[in-house]
Amino acid sequence: MSSYIIRGGNRLAGEVSVSGSKNAALGIISAAMLLDGPCKIENIPDIADLNVMVEICKALGAQVKRDPDGALTLDPSTITSWEATHDKVRHIRGSYYLLGALLGRFSKASIYMPGGCNFGARPIDQHMKGFEALGATVTIEYGKINVEAQHLHGEHIFLDVVSVGATINIMIAAAKAEGTTVIENAAREPHIVDVANFLNTMGANIRGAGTDVIRITGVQQLPAGATYSIIPDQIEAGTYMLAAALTRGDVTVRNVIPRHMEPLTAKMEEMNISVDTGDDWIRVWMEPERELLAANFKTMPYPGFPTDLQPQTTVLLTTAKGSSKMLENVWENRFQYVDDLKTMGADVMIAGHVAIIAGGSALTGTKVTARDLRAGAAMVLAGLAADGETEVTDINKIERGYENFIKKMRHLGADITRMDS
Ligand code: UD1
Repeated sequence: MSSYIIRGGNRLAGEVSVSGSKNAALGIISAAMLLDGPCKIENIPDIADLNVMVEICKALGAQVKRDPDGALTLDPSTITSWEATHDKVRHIRGSYYLLGALLGRFSKASIYMPGGCNFGARPIDQHMKGFEALGATVTIEYGKINVEAQHLHGEHIFLDVVSVGATINIMIAAAKAEGTTVIENAAREPHIVDVANFLNTMGANIRGAGTDVIRITGVQQLPAGATYSIIPDQIEAGTYMLAAALTRGDVTVRNVIPRHMEPLTAKMEEMNISVDTGDDWIRVWMEPERELLAANFKTMPYPGFPTDLQPQTTVLLTTAKGSSKMLENVWENRFQYVDDLKTMGADVMIAGHVAIIAGGSALTGTKVTARDLRAGAAMVLAGLAADGETEVTDINKIERGYENFIKKMRHLGADITRMDS
């Protein structure tokens, strides 16, 4: 098992460029499986989750080629199978978007139950509700989800829970259904807009993505033949911004969409962190005379504070002046990393969905584990702020979602190395 070894205490400084959004890319590569011709997708990060997704698409029969510049050329016209039963389907969460894509293409689909980070029950009832409304029957048998429709048709769908995955999946399935589908109480995350923009570029008719009502008018053909560039990764950007504040550093994060970062930048300013914003960059730094202030957070669907930045933010709060609260509203079991943080000297108490963080702890290095992707990134951040050496194990979970993590961190001045055993 590989580890990162971090010697804490370095102040991060300089510039870092953010890669393409993992979660947008998962949705877009899946949506591409619905097209009637080839397309090119740029700004795809070279990370494990996406490489797995590409493998699954190839196993379905799609032709996928990675260009030297990292762009993917995909031709789904050679797909012959509606069954995504490659073993790796179980490794990533985003593979469930193939349900929507294959259902839209073949009027039937069958895939293994998807995997992904384990931070509590991850139901898919809202995806099923959507597919059923479009005319499909859904069954779960022998670890596989099967959906089948005589005829996919548009419908009004009200989501009972604001779900990113269900919104994207229904949008993909409805893109070629007959008539108009309206998704109400839709999620509004930037990557939902990105999947909609991708499909529209390829010939779809989707309006309202980014609001809580999305209207999809089905088209008979998605001719494709175009090039699309994926948006920057909001969570990767936020991780470097938080690392800058945590090490009392001065970092400019480039290739970002500052509007997507507002839920974080607003809270950073409340905490006395200096933030400056340009067209596609954000500078984060701490004035030496300023003290980091405690703050209370609630994770919410976009434009609320993202749950995927919760663990990294909690680490920052351990170094603030005063007591902070972190309320986790999205996932039921996303504080598993707190035990590791406590072994590093943090004073954090969990009461149900709330973490109460007593600031001002002096973190010290020890051996900790990456429990999931973002919790793993949080452990690395804790190591940057800790005295002495921190070993973070199980780092394949981190490398699932952060492109060139070590290289970017080292470029900013972090003392971090990868140890393979
Ligand atoms: C996506 C992200 C994940 C992020 C999450 C919330 C991907 C691959 N993953 O996950 O990193 O943490 O959004 O921003 O994009 N729910 C139901 N029924 C459903 C679907 C969801 O009850 O059918 C609940 C979930 O249990 C959870 C909440 O809705 O409490 C949000 O889940 P959802 O937005 O669907 O998350 P994912 O799309 O799985």
